Amino acid sequence: MHLEGERAFAAVDVPEELAYDRTGPNTPAGRYLRQFWIPVAQITDVKPARAKTITIMSENFTLYRGESGEPHLIAHLCPHRHVALAVGRVEGESVRCFYHGWKFDQHGACVDQPAEDEAFKDKVRAAAFPTREYLGLVFAFLGQGEPPPFPQFKRLERPGEVVTWSYVRRTNYFNSMENGADHVHANFVHERSAFSTVGVNREIPEIEPWETDFGIAFNTKYKDGKNGRHYVVMPLAAFIMIAEEGLDHLVDHLAFRIPIDDQSHRAFIVNLFEIFGEERDRFMEKKRQQRLALQTLPPIDDVVQAVIRGELHIDEVPDRPDLVGIQDSVVMETQPGITEREPDQLGRSDRAAILLRRIYAREIDAFAQGKPVKRWTYPEDLSPVPAV
Ligand code: FES
Ligand SMILES: [Fe+2]
Repeated sequence: MHLEGERAFAAVDVPEELAYDRTGPNTPAGRYLRQFWIPVAQITDVKPARAKTITIMSENFTLYRGESGEPHLIAHLCPHRHVALAVGRVEGESVRCFYHGWKFDQHGACVDQPAEDEAFKDKVRAAAFPTREYLGLVFAFLGQGEPPPFPQFKRLERPGEVVTWSYVRRTNYFNSMENGADHVHANFVHERSAFSTVGVNREIPEIEPWETDFGIAFNTKYKDGKNGRHYVVMPLAAFIMIAEEGLDHLVDHLAFRIPIDDQSHRAFIVNLFEIFGEERDRFMEKKRQQRLALQTLPPIDDVVQAVIRGELHIDEVPDRPDLVGIQDSVVMETQPGITEREPDQLGRSDRAAILLRRIYAREIDAFAQGKPVKRWTYPEDLSPVPAV
């Protein structure tokens, strides 16, 4: 994702199990993270009967939807002479390679080879990965063996309006993971935003984290006695409450941080708006207007890069519906990955991030050594608590 010469960070020597910013297929963190169901696309990324190449954790795949609309994920390249399968044709639930017509079904079986002997196709396979559509996202299991139980977020299945979207951030995924456990930044980075309208950042809260069956819970404690509660859901999500322009209450916000490569990641966001009837109609119309307005504004990445280059100060960016995202990207896109920087100077307010690093190091180390890893379970009633 990085343009040549755009940034250069020096590599720092860290033990392998601590290099959780490296997620390629042959890295300890990459192998560990492939043992989970993770979102790899929005279902709207690809139309039924079409295919595209996607990159997850520095590895390419062919994502396609069969004529039924079902999503499937198979190897990037045709095993014959390694042409991208995404430029081929979808037939039923299979893909036919554009080069010599070999056809692969959603399980990776080669089901047709027009120019070969009948017996050859049984010797050929493409890698294939289990997929499942949920909350507007395509989840996949990229690991070896049996996939774990599918993680469900019952809280987001309640009545209301589920809105799913995604964006790319040009920084290592772990910086965003830590940011999700960093409530203090709201008082600085989001000082000018809908966060202040609802009072989330009225003062710097005390952060009190602890490990749970699903990851990390942390309280944000305020002097007025109100406590918020937020979560890091292992291995790649935050489940928090955020402010939304035009609403006077906070909303559930599940944010997955999925590595594209070691310098960028894609965030998949699921929000549940518990609004109904006329309020719902008004709000959805407002969202539609916001989307239209955004199309007339400079693209978010242009703004972020202009701020990072120093051509524009973040305080000069005019108010716009995606200002919070711009503020976060400006911060994190200047942050090297863990193995590209000197050790951080961590303090009390970083306690949730410190715990996250400990858990990652412990689990990746155990996994790399073939020892038992923690089996995370996701409670059905998991629900963040606002502190306002
Ligand atoms: S490269 Fe795919 S069929 Fe030949
Ligand atoms: Fe933020």
